[in-house]
Amino acid sequence: MMLPNADFEYVRKLVRDRSAIVLDDGKTYLVESRLGPILQREGFASLTELVAALRSAPYHDLHRRVVEALTTNETSFFRDMPTFDALNLHVFPDLIQRRSVDRQINLWCAASSSGQEPYSIAMILRENFPILSTWVVRHIASDLNMDVLSKAKDGVFSQLEVNRGLPAPLLVKYFKKRGVDWQISDDIRRMIHFSHVNLAADWPQFPPMDVVFMRNVLIYFDVATKRSILGKIRRILRPGGYLVLGSAETTLNIDDKFERVAFPRVPFYRVKKT
Ligand SMILES: C[S@@+](CC[C@H](N)C(=O)[O-])C[C@H]1O[C@@H](n2cnc3c(N)ncnc32)[C@H](O)[C@@H]1O
Repeated sequence: MMLPNADFEYVRKLVRDRSAIVLDDGKTYLVESRLGPILQREGFASLTELVAALRSAPYHDLHRRVVEALTTNETSFFRDMPTFDALNLHVFPDLIQRRSVDRQINLWCAASSSGQEPYSIAMILRENFPILSTWVVRHIASDLNMDVLSKAKDGVFSQLEVNRGLPAPLLVKYFKKRGVDWQISDDIRRMIHFSHVNLAADWPQFPPMDVVFMRNVLIYFDVATKRSILGKIRRILRPGGYLVLGSAETTLNIDDKFERVAFPRVPFYRVKKT
């Protein structure tokens, strides 16, 4: 299904305006393959017909679905294990010590995709930090893509998904079989509040955050958007709070008010003390 250049440009601008995701020149194949299922579902004969329908109407559900189809939702349980080792060994022990007076911790998983990331964090908290069950732990997980967000809320994962990174003892302890799939326990599910947040638009009012997980999403944005998002994170982080990025991401040369925390092999950052 070939995509004429003018149609590619239209989709590229739509996606950029609505999500900040940058589609490089060579991404025509991606647009063609991701929009294929929408063509079929909506009964359009070609991508040009779909783009004509988008052009002729104000922004509505079809536009939203096109934008969301161009998000990449790759994720897995305990993705980049050293990050979770650092949470276990350094970050949560440090927060438990520093927050022991008001006994509140706020966490935000800012591009949580289908939920494996926030559920991995929630299982760590349950397993290794039982003291927190008497604290107020607000754990917000959000994404732009409504489909993955809804899957995350359901907490139902395929065999293939639980095979990717989830240790067997945690599968046995926190999941039960649902048909051929696995359902995460209500206890873990209730620890997380899922909501729709577009990082490229206005953010809702968040409580001051102890940890912001923004892993593997900044890579899709241009430098100006990354800079603006990092600035907003600085404003919602509590003093001493942590920003966690993906292993291919950095604040370096984008926002010099962050400094890297010296944990081995993991991209954790804090706002520099002034
Ligand atoms: C590659 S996944 C990363 C998932 C998870 N953080 C991880 O590291 O495994 C990137 C996620 O970012 C989301 N995303 C892309 N643009 C976004 C935006 N403007 N606002 C919020 N989420 C966005 C996508 O929908 C996708 O689920």
